[in-house]
Amino acid sequence: MFISFEGIDGSGKSTQLVLLRDVLEQAGSTVVTIREPGATLLSESIREILLSNKQTITSTAELLLFSAARTQLVEKVIEPALEQGTLILCDRYVDSTTAYQGYGRMLDMENVTTCNRIATRGVMPSVTFFIDVAFEQAQQRMHFDTGAGEPDRMERAGREFFERVREGYLAIAQNEPTRMVVIDGARDRAVIHHDILAVLRERTSLPV
Ligand code: ADP
Ligand code: TYD
Repeated sequence: MFISFEGIDGSGKSTQLVLLRDVLEQAGSTVVTIREPGATLLSESIREILLSNKQTITSTAELLLFSAARTQLVEKVIEPALEQGTLILCDRYVDSTTAYQGYGRMLDMENVTTCNRIATRGVMPSVTFFIDVAFEQAQQRMHFDTGAGEPDRMERAGREFFERVREGYLAIAQNEPTRMVVIDGARDRAVIHHDILAVLRERTSLPV
C-alpha cells in the first residue's frame, strides 16, 4: 500500500508521517518512508538544484525537474517496493506538483496533468492526507523550527503563492474525495495523529 502526505511548507506533514511510521513499525510492519523530491541519488541531486537560492528557475523548468525527480523515484523505489507488498509512506507526491506548479505557479493545467501522468507511470497512493493549515500558522511553525535554517527557493515564494497552493489542494480533495482526506492541521500533533489513525482503521486493514 502507498500513502502520501501533502500540505504547504511547515504544515506539519512530516511530523505526522513519522508518528504513523512509528505506530506501523511497532505493530511489526515493514515501512519504506520517502520524501519528494528525493530518495534516489538523481532525485536528491535534482532536489538540491530546485531548492537552492543560487539561481532562478523558470516555472516550466521547475515542473519538468520535479517530474524527472518523481519518475526516477517511481521506477527505482516505489514500483519495486509495491511489487514486494511493502508499505510506502511518502512525504509529498504528485499532488504537490498540481498544487505548487499548477495552482501556485499558474502553469497550464493540461501540461501539468500530462507531466504528472508521465512521471507517476500511473502509480497513485491509496490514501493521501492533506494536512490543512493556514499560511500564517505554517510560517510560524517554520519560524520556530530551529533546524530549518534560511528559507529555500520554494519557501521564498510568498503569501499569495501559498494561498493558491492551499486552494489547489482543496480543489484536488474536492475532485478526488475517496483518495484525498483533508485533515485540520491547526490542532495539536497528537489529535491530528489520532484522526489519521481513525481514517486508516476505517479505510484499510493496516495494524493501527
Ligand atoms: P512540514 O513537513 O509540513 O514542512 P514539519 O512536520 O517539519 O512540517 O513541521 C514544521 C514545524 O512545526 C516543526 O518544528 C514541527 O515540530 C512543528 N509542528 C508540527 N506539527 C505541529 C502541530 N500540530 N502543532 C504545532 N507545531 C507543530
Ligand atoms: P521540502 O523541504 O521537502 O518541503 P517540506 O518540508 O515543506 O515538505 O521542500 C520541497 C519543496 O518543493 C516544497 O516547497 C514543495 C515543493 N514541491 C513542489 O513545488 N512541487 C513538487 O512536485 C514537489 C514534490 C515539491
